[in-house]
Amino acid sequence: MRNILDVVWTLAKLVLIAGLIALGSCTMARTLLKQAPTELPEGWQPDPRALLPEELARSLLQTEIYGDLSLVPGIAVRSSAVLSGSAVEGLGTLTQWQLKIGYGAAERRVDLVLVMPNAHPSAPVILSQNFCPNDDVVPLPGVAYPSDSSFDCAGGGLFGSLMTGIFGRYIVTPPLQTILERGYGFAALYPSQLIPDSAEDGMAVLDAMFPAADNRPGALAVWSQLFGIAAELIEEEQGSRPFIAYGHSRFAKTALLAGAWSDRIDGVIAHQSGTLGASSVDDEDGEPVSALLSSYPHWAGPGLERHAGNPSALPVDPADLLNMLGDKPVLLGNARRDVWSDPWGAFKEAKRAWGEDFTAARPGDFDPAARKAYWLRPGTHGVVKEDWPAFLAFLDAHFGKAQ
Ligand code: GCU
Repeated sequence: MRNILDVVWTLAKLVLIAGLIALGSCTMARTLLKQAPTELPEGWQPDPRALLPEELARSLLQTEIYGDLSLVPGIAVRSSAVLSGSAVEGLGTLTQWQLKIGYGAAERRVDLVLVMPNAHPSAPVILSQNFCPNDDVVPLPGVAYPSDSSFDCAGGGLFGSLMTGIFGRYIVTPPLQTILERGYGFAALYPSQLIPDSAEDGMAVLDAMFPAADNRPGALAVWSQLFGIAAELIEEEQGSRPFIAYGHSRFAKTALLAGAWSDRIDGVIAHQSGTLGASSVDDEDGEPVSALLSSYPHWAGPGLERHAGNPSALPVDPADLLNMLGDKPVLLGNARRDVWSDPWGAFKEAKRAWGEDFTAARPGDFDPAARKAYWLRPGTHGVVKEDWPAFLAFLDAHFGKAQ
């Protein structure tokens, strides 16, 4: 018996040592063990380099990173239906659009769902893009589940509980009732309907849509345009109002692009946008461009491949993208243990892009009333209990009823 226990104990120690070695040699695991600073590192000075002129930045962001954003999708067919006039405890009206969006030969079905507060029909609208289909994000009767989707967050099922357990209570469904009560509409889009979010299927659809493009857009560029399309539809049918592009992680990248490119987007909440979002591309911490391209080759345009091995040599920076947001209110959300999304890299780029307008003196400063706000909470990657109160405080300050 004693011998067996010794063997088990030795094996356990070997497994532990092997695990620690594996952790130490894996970039992502090493990153998981780090924390982003709340204070400025001693002696740190903002990057003094001048920003690129806006037109040059616009052109380089397309040729070197995202691909051609001038290829705007046309809406081939659309229909809208009011699904309920008393959704979410009678507070809201639920409308759904079914669209066929075509680029060239390819045509894809995309659904848009919107809940507007009955008490405030011309309220500002938070346009969201999500990792899960619309019926998970806005779990109300009649909201369409995309039949061609291979992905379902399964509402309250096991997968759903796992998602919220790991990535926070609001990773799938936002606090809809609070959002309506505070006087905002909320719209959901599932961008994978347009370009599937997988390397193989995503590439196949991009190739079918842009067979002749010299610099075909990547999925991030195409997805980002859905924000403007949604704003246009809602405005046409329900009247003009401010539109705020909101997204987490990959869809925080698209929200920033939409804010930079589209006049229809009035503000941005980009939560944990990371690499190809607000964060530096060549930090020691954070997701390397090469890792992103190897896991998600369909996200960028073809130009980024040239810089995968040496992103420091990119002729355009995230600061230039942030600069293109002009004076729109922008909130960059972050979490201290989400170093893969590089909160400190986002702080540095924001300082360089926005200078004095970026009033956060240190990463720990959150001022929701600042036009360019930076939110850093404890914890990891996801949308947790503390995040929506911060988002809503920011929205109230810039788009709220008192504005
Ligand atoms: C991966 C990817 C990130 C992305 C994130 C997400 O971690 O490397 O770039 O932001 O997925 O979308 O959750």
